[in-house]
Amino acid sequence: MEDTSIGADEFSRLMLGYRSALKTMQTKIEILNDEFITIHHYNPIEHVKSRIKTRESIIHKLKKYGHEVTLENMVRYVNDIAGIRIICSFVSDIYRLADAVTNQSDLEVLTVKNYLINPKDNGYTSYHMILSVPVYLSNGPAHIKVELQIRTIAMDFWASLDHKIRYKFEGSTPEYISSQLKNCADIVTSLDRKMEQLNRDIQEVAREQPVSVEEQSEQQQRDSEEIRRSVILNREDGIPAAEPAEKSAAEPADAASLAEESEE
Ligand code: GTP
Ligand code: MG
Repeated sequence: MEDTSIGADEFSRLMLGYRSALKTMQTKIEILNDEFITIHHYNPIEHVKSRIKTRESIIHKLKKYGHEVTLENMVRYVNDIAGIRIICSFVSDIYRLADAVTNQSDLEVLTVKNYLINPKDNGYTSYHMILSVPVYLSNGPAHIKVELQIRTIAMDFWASLDHKIRYKFEGSTPEYISSQLKNCADIVTSLDRKMEQLNRDIQEVAREQPVSVEEQSEQQQRDSEEIRRSVILNREDGIPAAEPAEKSAAEPADAASLAEESEE
């Protein structure tokens, strides 16, 4: 079946569902972060990136996996049409957020891939979930798949370099570069472990020397405002209104790189 067999109207309606599911997830993540800050005096999220896969990229993926290009196959086989990535400071934050998402009764966890426990051969680590997110449109509820990736800043740093290298060498990365990159992945794992321990030590000291209530609440407000701004930034720049827009020069590097990774 030719690519043109998918009507523009049908495709736009489908994408509306994915955009709505992404907005629902962004709001949920914002609320979780606010709750952590308010109740636990702790901000687990560094920033959030999100994107909708382009029509070309969806078609490319269907063809790559040998599926006919139909709307039904898009919904069934392309799990990452809507993608959201949460970047945390610490590995413990990844599990904390994954648990909080899993415990939301309106979300269904369809699959989990824990590449922290089982890293890919190239060294890639991250926590992936495919979620089914309820969306209420005028013609009734729908359940839309969203891919959620949760990683640390260090893992994200590694993944973006890995992505650049693969893009550059198009599947024929020289062995010495792959092996250096694998070595960097080991360093990332060890760095994450050390940072986690250091953070625990800092918290220990903080418990012995508590900050004043005023200081704490000012900091909470700043953290909360920062994550809100980061989510809004992604809403405006990461998610196109209908068909994905051309990447503009003003688009932040983060959103652009997530869009590029969506081509995978
Ligand atoms: P697709 O890769 O989406 O075809 O499906 P999959 O079943 O292999 O999914 P998986 O959960 O393993 O990976 C999904 C996404 O994670 C990718 O689209 C990338 O964004 C990211 N990812 C997975 N592996 C790697 C990797 O080795 N390097 C980088 N940079 N990103 C990766
Ligand atoms: Mg993908």
